[in-house]
Amino acid sequence: MATSPDLTRRAAIALGSAGAIGGALALAGCTDASGTGSDSAPPAAGDASSAPPPAGEQVAAAADVPVGGSIDATVAGAPVLVAQPKAGEYVAFSAICTHQQCVVAAAGAEFHCPCHGSIYDAATGDVLAGPAPEPLSPIKIEVAGDEIVTAS
Ligand code: FES
Repeated sequence: MATSPDLTRRAAIALGSAGAIGGALALAGCTDASGTGSDSAPPAAGDASSAPPPAGEQVAAAADVPVGGSIDATVAGAPVLVAQPKAGEYVAFSAICTHQQCVVAAAGAEFHCPCHGSIYDAATGDVLAGPAPEPLSPIKIEVAGDEIVTAS
């Protein structure tokens, strides 16, 4: 390894003091544990970001999604985000960040990526801030009874 433990510790301290609240999470989430310095090892996302989930998959209970807020969920093993911008209007997106494929988290009316700080609009998936180059991928959903399910 090229860096000394002391340098690594100082770098971590510098990052920790300069970063926002998510700084420690960013270090934990995207630091390459192999020590190669490669950017090619984001958290395992598989092909979840490119392949839409099949129709009819359960996403969440409609009652669990607050009006004006959002929740984290899983569809067919893939992390997704569900929001209800207006009463009765639900939207869902892949939770795979378009920057380096970290898993983005629900944060009220926004989605936050813990790795490099990208912020997305929970109503549209659009990038509000950060390095993410593209909006989050939308997922087609519909309400079936009390449940939100994927649509075709
Ligand atoms: S992976 Fe870099 S901001 Fe999300």
